[in-house]
Amino acid sequence: RLKMVIDTDPGVDDAMAVFFAARTPQIDLLALTTVFGNVTVETATRNALHLCEMAGLDIPVAQGAAGPLARAPSPPSAHVHGAEGFGDLPAVAPARRAVAEDAADLLCRLAREHPGALTVCAIGPITNVAEAIRRDPAFARNVARIVFMGGAAWVPGNVTPHAEANTWNDPHALTEVLASGAPVVMVGLDVTMRVLCTAQDFARIARTDPHLGGFLDRASRFYLDFYRNVAGVEGCGLHDPAAIVAALRPDLFRMRRTALSVALDGAEIGRTRPVDDGPPIDICEDGDMEAVKALFLAAFDRPD
Ligand code: BDR
Ligand code: CA
Repeated sequence: RLKMVIDTDPGVDDAMAVFFAARTPQIDLLALTTVFGNVTVETATRNALHLCEMAGLDIPVAQGAAGPLARAPSPPSAHVHGAEGFGDLPAVAPARRAVAEDAADLLCRLAREHPGALTVCAIGPITNVAEAIRRDPAFARNVARIVFMGGAAWVPGNVTPHAEANTWNDPHALTEVLASGAPVVMVGLDVTMRVLCTAQDFARIARTDPHLGGFLDRASRFYLDFYRNVAGVEGCGLHDPAAIVAALRPDLFRMRRTALSVALDGAEIGRTRPVDDGPPIDICEDGDMEAVKALFLAAFDRPD
């Protein structure tokens, strides 16, 4: 089973990703770590705990960065993910609390305990992973793979014409992660916007899996409205779940091995581009995105 930590800013599509991992027997989800982004880090932690309770995941949740490493912080994306992170669903107070260890320490420890076997899926701003690399020089060697949702190598951004939201939120963190030479896989808008999940798709998983599928169906309505009103499309991109799928089934993607540059200031801040110089990473440039979507949806066909 694939040992995995998900570093997340829940977030509607983060909930999809966490539930997909929870419903996939081949994934051994060891912990969630939280980061600012779609919501504040405190809300991200509360939401992550709530997701664990819903999915019956008895795993640690460790809180991480409240803001970016160097750039000015930006407000949460309430217009995309809702005020509390799950569309217009109200906040739910979890029964459990986050562990005392913070996100970066937990990442370093798990990578040390499972050398060469831990996949870190970073589906928010990648600040906690950068912090783990700062704290433990061995982290980049210990980790099997860092699969991050973010960036747009060959296509326009989604938060500015140049930048995708996660890389825009902390471009310096991504630069540090890339410079570390750790094995990195980028799952960006190049692939995540090639397939859309529609209201009908969510209605289907709500029928087959009323508990988790039903929650995603309710949480995604606001998110789907955003896509309809702002992007003019019927359906939402499969951002964060695609990163979990890429960690599990890299064969479903075509990757290009190349270095990546990240714009750190100016109007293009957060823009990611393939370049010749620097440690190479694997960038998903294409994929069988219908198969990725089918795999995601199928996880909710067999609730326990
Ligand atoms: C990414 O930004 C966030 O809004 C989503 O949760 C996803 O991680 C998409 O650009
Ligand atoms: Ca996210």
